Amino acid sequence: MDKTRKVIFITGASSGIGKATALYLAKEGAIVYGTSRSPKIDKEMDKWNIRMITMNLTDDSSVKAAVKEVMDREGRIDVLFNNAGSGISGALEDTNVEEIKELFETNFFGMVRVINEVLPHMRKLGTGIIINSSSIGGVIGLPYQGVYSSTKFAVEGYSEALSKEVRRFGIKVCILEPGDFKTGFTSRRKFSAATSKKSCYYEDFLKTVSVFESDEINGCKPEIIGKLINKIIHTSNPKLRYVVGNFEQKLSVLVKKFLPGRVFEKIIINYYMGKGIKTNDELERVDKRLNL
Ligand SMILES: NC(=O)c1ccc[n+]([C@@H]2O[C@H](COP(=O)([O-])OP(=O)(O)OC[C@H]3O[C@@H](n4cnc5c(N)ncnc54)[C@H](OP(=O)(O)O)[C@@H]3O)[C@@H](O)[C@H]2O)c1
Repeated sequence: MDKTRKVIFITGASSGIGKATALYLAKEGAIVYGTSRSPKIDKEMDKWNIRMITMNLTDDSSVKAAVKEVMDREGRIDVLFNNAGSGISGALEDTNVEEIKELFETNFFGMVRVINEVLPHMRKLGTGIIINSSSIGGVIGLPYQGVYSSTKFAVEGYSEALSKEVRRFGIKVCILEPGDFKTGFTSRRKFSAATSKKSCYYEDFLKTVSVFESDEINGCKPEIIGKLINKIIHTSNPKLRYVVGNFEQKLSVLVKKFLPGRVFEKIIINYYMGKGIKTNDELERVDKRLNL
């Protein structure tokens, strides 16, 4: 056991932000364990000795087994990065309770399952950092991503409370709030089953999807989150929240705190529903994605 190297556990390290962070931290000398429902190791991950473990966040026994595997091998987890997550888009009225429960199972209860398994070990050691991935959508209720926003608001409340409970055990909790990043998230996002061209929400929905998908496709590179996580885990007193993204996205979080609620709401409505698809190529891309 090499006690000079931090042991990092990253959920959802097969793609996007999780994979980029796994690589960044491994290159910085950490011992990195990543999870996926169907793990694959590519050449670069192999080169940096990243170990991938099978884990499905929605399954208690799968989460228990994954954490046990790391504990058996390393005897400790210094940093838990609860990164795995997915999205759904659709008008809230067009989204049923089963679809909402499904997303909460991954984005919220999945995170809770992992924390409940890791926390007793961190508590015994009297040290540890837990970083929970929220989103700017966990600070601003995003139209047509309302269910996704709800899961991330839940992550925010849970993390804020957890931080106060575990501080006295030497455990630090941080909330990561990314803006738009270019990852596998966009193509994996589901659409509510009842979404239809006949829905009274369709026109605004279509405009909004075209805006946020375009923001993601042209978004920041996930590597910058790897760099930020590396900074957080080497800071003696990390902040509770880290907003990461482009300038306008970071500004929107700040502005929300100061503007009257209805004024801020108008700005968001205008941003997403006042713009929308600009070119035929874009229309074709969004049409294909929705496949209605
Ligand atoms: N991209 C953005 O613009 C953005 C913005 C704000 C916040 N975020 C947040 O950042 C986190 C990472 O997203 P990303 O953009 O990197 O997306 P991504 O490229 O789609 O990666 C998502 C990861 O989560 C894992 N995952 C999804 N469902 C899972 C489940 N049920 N059990 C276990 N693992 C599961 C996936 O692993 P497998 O499919 O291999 O199991 C994958 O490794 C998410 O929490 C997301 O909400 C992303």
